[in-house]
Amino acid sequence: MLRPELPIATERLILRTATAADLDEMYAYKSRPEVCRYLPYEPMSRDQVAERLAGPWARTELTEVNQGLNLSVEDKASGRLLGDVVLFWRDAESRSGEIGYVFSPSAAGHGYATEAARALLRLGFEQLSLHRITARIDARNAASARVLGRLGMRREALHLEDLWFKNEWSDTVVYAMLEHEWRSRTTALGDSVNLGAGRP
Ligand SMILES: CC(C)(COP(=O)(O)OP(=O)(O)OC[C@H]1O[C@@H](n2cnc3c(N)ncnc32)[C@H](O)[C@@H]1OP(=O)(O)O)[C@@H](O)C(=O)NCCC(=O)NCCS
Repeated sequence: MLRPELPIATERLILRTATAADLDEMYAYKSRPEVCRYLPYEPMSRDQVAERLAGPWARTELTEVNQGLNLSVEDKASGRLLGDVVLFWRDAESRSGEIGYVFSPSAAGHGYATEAARALLRLGFEQLSLHRITARIDARNAASARVLGRLGMRREALHLEDLWFKNEWSDTVVYAMLEHEWRSRTTALGDSVNLGAGRP
């Protein structure tokens, strides 16, 4: 069982449980084809977004591996919903997880996705005591690759045509970071770390 302390505040953002009140703003970006281009779903209808918000997608703790903790990301100053992020629990014994993120095009180009994803890494390593966190992206998703590069995640693998995705073969790039790499980075940056807390 992984139970995070929420909400999480960063310099400019709040990461919190998704609620039904997110519907309009979330639908506005999840319904856009360009936003969903490299996501494992098609542009969503309003009903599909509402269904997600009302169901286990909006869970607040992880009780089984392969569940994802989806968090809404709001702008601290305005309360506007900017996007959402996810931390999947992938393996209990190996303490591994995986991150993902999707942001509204209207929030692009400010470093919000990088800031939110960094908070997810912190949550995974420091609160949930994960050992390794990965991200898997379509090799054509250059903006996402830049986010992972800014986070300091290592580009570990390129899997050629491993996925039949949206009617064509796609290549997957795997990025990863280990707990001790996170600790070294945050120590070098002067951040506090608390690796003992919340061990599963
Ligand atoms: C992937 C995605 C989140 C990236 O969004 P983004 O706006 O490029 O990323 P950020 O919010 O971190 O912003 C970074 C950009 O803002 C700029 N920036 C401006 N102010 C900044 C700041 N204070 N801090 C950091 N970056 C800043 C950076 O230079 C960078 O621009 P660049 O990539 O052209 O160099 C977005 O394209 C998206 O949601 N895509 C659709 C969903 C998707 O594909 N998700 C990934 C699936 S794996």
